Amino acid sequence: MIISSVDEMVELGARIGTTLQAGDVILLSGELGVGKTALTRGIGRALGFTDVTSPTFVIAKIYNGALPLVHVDAYRLLGQELATFDDLDLETRIPRSVTVIEWGESFIDRIAPDHATIRISHGASENERIVELTGISL
Ligand SMILES: Nc1ncnc2c1ncn2[C@@H]1O[C@H](COP(=O)(O)OP(=O)(O)O)[C@@H](O)[C@H]1O
Ligand SMILES: [Mg+2]
Repeated sequence: MIISSVDEMVELGARIGTTLQAGDVILLSGELGVGKTALTRGIGRALGFTDVTSPTFVIAKIYNGALPLVHVDAYRLLGQELATFDDLDLETRIPRSVTVIEWGESFIDRIAPDHATIRISHGASENERIVELTGISL
């Protein structure tokens, strides 16, 4: 689908968020600045979290609520050993949370083989984005 503004991206995230359940894992794919965190902000909003911001400098942020949100940004781990990553203890968190992962292509199949994927790319104009959903139906 075509998204025309950052507000629309957040709105799409919120629509997706209302369909999610504990144990769901979403891989967000797309280049830096394309809108992965904006989409995650919408998912967080649907789960009752108003303050989702990029976890780039901490690898992951955990929002605790009725249905917790785990937001991972593995950008800093690209090309590194996964020791730091394993410290996040995702195996125990995933089953009781919604987990959204940016920059996780290299390890997602190991931790969540059944994940959904949202691929975002740039469209024809500055604020336009193309979003492809795999494993998510709205
Ligand atoms: N349609 C759009 N969807 C999402 N972000 C957009 C859109 N148009 C412009 N932007 C801008 O692009 C940037 C996306 O940043 P961010 O969500 O942090 O990207 P990422 O997490 O993929 O690196 C923001 O500055 C946002 O305002
Ligand atoms: Mg981001």
